[in-house]
Amino acid sequence: MGILSYATKPNFVPITLPPSVDAAMLQDFGRIVEGINPATFSEGEFMALSKALHEHGFLVFRDVTLSPGEIHRLVKAFDPEAESYGHGSKRNSRDRSRKSPFAQIQNVPSVPQVQLIGHGTVRNHEGIDEATLSHPSHRTFHQTPLSMDDEEAGYTRFYHWHMDAALYSFKPPKVTALYAVQVPNGPSQTVRYDDGTGDELPVPLGTTAFTSGRISFEILPRHLQSVAVRSRVKYAPHPFLWMNPAGAMSNGLGLETEGRETPLDQLPPWDESKRQTLPMLWKNPVTGGLHLQVAATAVTDIFIDPLPINAEREDALYPDGAHLTDLKELRELLYQLQRPGISPSLVYPHDWKEKDLVLFHNRGVNHSVVGSLNDDHIRVFHQCNLAATDLPLGPDEEDTRRWA
Ligand SMILES: [Fe+2]
Repeated sequence: MGILSYATKPNFVPITLPPSVDAAMLQDFGRIVEGINPATFSEGEFMALSKALHEHGFLVFRDVTLSPGEIHRLVKAFDPEAESYGHGSKRNSRDRSRKSPFAQIQNVPSVPQVQLIGHGTVRNHEGIDEATLSHPSHRTFHQTPLSMDDEEAGYTRFYHWHMDAALYSFKPPKVTALYAVQVPNGPSQTVRYDDGTGDELPVPLGTTAFTSGRISFEILPRHLQSVAVRSRVKYAPHPFLWMNPAGAMSNGLGLETEGRETPLDQLPPWDESKRQTLPMLWKNPVTGGLHLQVAATAVTDIFIDPLPINAEREDALYPDGAHLTDLKELRELLYQLQRPGISPSLVYPHDWKEKDLVLFHNRGVNHSVVGSLNDDHIRVFHQCNLAATDLPLGPDEEDTRRWA
């Protein structure tokens, strides 16, 4: 009967959103997939999955059993020529910074593109005798962490808003898969933004938080939409080593500007041609929508094109274009662009159940690790994304005419 149950027509069912979410704003965000087995999907089913992923940003399969090889096969279907993990191979990486995704992960030996991530000691797992995993903690990243008392009272932070991307040498993955092997049990926690707004968000323990890059763009005031559609950002070489000495903002959006970044001439050897300059807005190849996708912690430059001829100049920012290199100035601009999109009502914190498989459109959503886990909390996840074979598309001429 198991086989027959997958023979039904695929169904993409809206996700039940928590009460904190503005359900009207997020009505198109996320779907639960029914009627497709992610281990044995057909070509037609893959087409339906790909369309739904690009339209909704986030897909959940509930109660599925999936091997690392099957996770890899599914992710690779979105970019068949892609070979390496999104950050390349750990063996070849010079990046040993505590902020690097490499700091917390371990390859599954049989499928090195799949990473074992989580919290606690795992034994005899997928060919790994023993691994001690550590859930990324804002304590090692934020400039001003919560006090122990606050954490014991159930407060926590967004760790780091980002897309999964090395941002140097390797192109941003199209899709990320997260598979929950073991989910920690415990009371919910409350994210404190600590950014002067008083904003808070109740979240399940060990959640992953997601926002839609499309909504983040569409809610902006006109003058910021105009800047976003005209801008490209340049990322640091070895970005995670570059940002490593700096402290992040309390809401996980960007870095505090104190001049602590590693000087470029003190980084391991790097090649200018491997640095990436990417549009601020990434165009969805299926819907044509524009998604605000900027890894703010890694940006060194912003290039802003002048307004097109005939565009409304009143109230425009940088009407004649600009090249921003002052970190304080460019981070203030990025903050204005990105802070509205993480307001509590626009954040979807996924309530993980064991055997959940989540696929997210890494070029259309932003996400953050969340939560403060203790020694009793065991969290075991498999994660897979692949360095892409092409770069994200930016706005086209018509987009610029419409939004600039
Ligand atoms: Fe991530």
